[in-house]
Amino acid sequence: MGLLTAATLAALDHEVVGVDEDEEKIGLLRQGVSPFYEPGLPKLIQEGMSSGNLRFEVRAYDAVADAEVVFICVGTPARVSGEANLVAIERSARALAQHLTGPIVVIEKSTVPAGTAQRLWQVLTLERPDLADDIEVVSNPEFLREGQAVEDSFEPGRILVGARSERAFEIMRRLYEPLVRDGARIIETDIRTAELAKHACNAYLAMKISYVNALARLCERADADVTAVADVMGSDPRIGRAFLDAGLGWGGYCFPKDLQAFERLSARLGYDFRLLREVERINDEAIVAAVEKVKDALWNLEDKRVALLGLSFKPKTDDVRLSPALALARKLIDEEATVVGYDPEAGPNAKSELPDLQLAPSVYDALEGAHCFVVCTDWDEFRSIDLDRARDILAHPIVVDGRNVFDPAEMRRKGFIYYGTGRPSDHGMR
Ligand code: UGA
Repeated sequence: MGLLTAATLAALDHEVVGVDEDEEKIGLLRQGVSPFYEPGLPKLIQEGMSSGNLRFEVRAYDAVADAEVVFICVGTPARVSGEANLVAIERSARALAQHLTGPIVVIEKSTVPAGTAQRLWQVLTLERPDLADDIEVVSNPEFLREGQAVEDSFEPGRILVGARSERAFEIMRRLYEPLVRDGARIIETDIRTAELAKHACNAYLAMKISYVNALARLCERADADVTAVADVMGSDPRIGRAFLDAGLGWGGYCFPKDLQAFERLSARLGYDFRLLREVERINDEAIVAAVEKVKDALWNLEDKRVALLGLSFKPKTDDVRLSPALALARKLIDEEATVVGYDPEAGPNAKSELPDLQLAPSVYDALEGAHCFVVCTDWDEFRSIDLDRARDILAHPIVVDGRNVFDPAEMRRKGFIYYGTGRPSDHGMR
């Protein structure tokens, strides 16, 4: 997110210095190489560097001396308790405070619990009481999605800014002026509202997915089709079709930690937001349901080979953090299945996260000799699998379609035993 912010602002003709403690990462960036897979990002980085607007430094907090604004984009992972760990925010604030020379706007870009900006301001001004009147803290949460982060950065739809003074709002308007000219809307609020709104958005989206996944469990029992139900729901503009795709559930770096942090913040403030715990419980259930389907299809998992197609937490990224595919792989491995996975981008990351997973170099290598295959992530590549070839190389023609990428009727016509998600399935004990 920091890298995207840096590259985007450089493209908007601001002068940007990207700072990170990780020397290896900075080394790659200086060669124009992105340390992770994100479509369009390497080109954006290279363009930024050749225009002279973008450079990268290790721990160069002195870059702060000449800056008008500083973005804090560090990670806010979950503690064991579920609370957001804000140590990196505090550390970076302390480090940058040492180098401040005059008026500065410090922008909190990381996702944080409401009230964090106040803490941030406290740290900065305790470190630099001489600049207490010159330090402004602004909340500017990010809404970009992995896999389409470049598009989202240039067409953000909305830009959320929480600030305290007209001077800070004015600087933020200047920063994003080219995007506003292209149609983005700036929503200006107080700081705590901006912080809380970010958590509210992510938790709501996760809730929408969990709602459709709960419907999927019901549709499976009622022999109804959850995709068609979602289409009906989505045709009502009050509901909208987005984020109503049933599957193995939500994962990634953001939803799981943000949902927990939001629930913990609520608890700390004295409100029991138990709906959020239920949203999480339904999400865990999606993996259990997939394991049950594999077992229904294969009976005992010992001596069985299961192919998983897609290992990243969603398509177009190599990010496997809290990927539902890996959660499923772990459960299947625990039950002694041999699990072989294929992903267009995330294979190496998946393997280092889960060494017991076998990696295949292609879809067909994964399917060869497998007793069933599970579609875990809806990469486009899987929609164009040669189904005749797949059926012939599998040990058994069984598919668990964890993302509903196939047409059930076509799969049956091609001779597959088909298990969908929230759709009528062929059962092992017919
Ligand atoms: C999410 C939000 O969508 C962004 O707006 C936000 O900026 C970001 O978190 C963040 O806070 O940084 P992201 O984590 O990249 O973005 O991924 P999403 O596209 O939201 O997908 C999250 C998970 O939900 C994925 O595992 C995806 O497969 C799953 N999902 C999504 C479904 O299972 N069904 C759907 O209908 C949609």
